[in-house]
Amino acid sequence: MIQAARGEWEGDTRELFLAPMSGVSELPYRLLALECGADVTITEFTSSAALTREVARSWSRMESHPSEKPFIPQIFGGDPSEMRLAASMLNDRADIIDLNFGCPAPKVTKICAGAALMGQPEDLVSMTRSIIQEVDCPVTAKMRLGTGNKFNNAIEISKELENIGVARLCVHGRTLKQRYSGEADWNYIQNVVESVEIPVIANGDIIDSSSAAACLETTSAAGLMIGRGAIGRPTVFGEIKSELGWIDEESLPWVDHNWYNLSEIGKTFASRKWAWDRYLELAKGTTGLRPKWLKRHATAFTKGLPGAKAARVKMHETETSDQFAMSISQFLAQKVDSQSSKS
Ligand SMILES: Cc1cc2nc3c(=O)[nH]c(=O)nc-3n(C[C@H](O)[C@H](O)[C@H](O)COP(=O)(O)O)c2cc1C
Repeated sequence: MIQAARGEWEGDTRELFLAPMSGVSELPYRLLALECGADVTITEFTSSAALTREVARSWSRMESHPSEKPFIPQIFGGDPSEMRLAASMLNDRADIIDLNFGCPAPKVTKICAGAALMGQPEDLVSMTRSIIQEVDCPVTAKMRLGTGNKFNNAIEISKELENIGVARLCVHGRTLKQRYSGEADWNYIQNVVESVEIPVIANGDIIDSSSAAACLETTSAAGLMIGRGAIGRPTVFGEIKSELGWIDEESLPWVDHNWYNLSEIGKTFASRKWAWDRYLELAKGTTGLRPKWLKRHATAFTKGLPGAKAARVKMHETETSDQFAMSISQFLAQKVDSQSSKS
């Protein structure tokens, strides 16, 4: 089921993944990323303990849609029996189950879950083995380089996970100790790629086509995962694909008859406007417009754009979710128009 290109990167296509991101990658945003050119999406990480206790809010993160293929829920936890039970509860709906061995948040590591498990490699491997035995679908894992306490052990762990049947790995090129500081170590990821036969996805600091190409050249990874670079900018996937010559620019859904009259900043506004409006449609058609999510994405979609501060003040004065959503749309539309008339 999981196949991927192997060997040195020669400019050919690779799968692009929207990173699982808590507070970002909810269902409508994942569907939007797919329309923008992502090949694979993964849910926000979800507590196995909460799933086994039937916590509704956690199960709401496990929503998918027929157009999200494959559907990959990601779970975390420190208790092997809870992890196994949560995986078995997801067995019917998941195409693949992803295990989180990368989260550095203290509330996760203090229960010896997420990246803390990399400090207990035997527990990590035995937990994964019992999940693989429990479910019918492929199991994948996302990890870091190691905890940062001693030597990095992602290579050793990767080999063991391959031996017990993990179908694919994603490596974020930082340690638990580093959290998000420093640069992602793509050279180490390349060593992981060389050490196993299963596909390895490289993650960390990929934000555009130049960093995507540089990461592929260094790692020869089977695919790339993009996190922060896709927050408020889901179009990054299509942009990478068109700039690396994998697809024609004309095939991007936001490229219309007016596109080539726009300045670079005008194009930024136009693609964000397209993506924002499409996000609203996808949210209305699936989860509905949820104020918390609207606010998060609205802030990210407008971040760094000239005039955004004033627009954000205005949008917070609105009374309904619809008005709020429209105020962002109007702000972006005005900017596209002003850039269009300048050219
Ligand atoms: C806001 C935020 C939430 C995240 N939530 C998760 C998560 O739920 N599961 C996970 O495996 N990683 C999570 N991560 C880590 C990302 O998936 C990714 O590994 C990390 O951001 C490095 O990639 P980047 O440099 O492309 O951002 C999160 C990162 C951010 C910034």
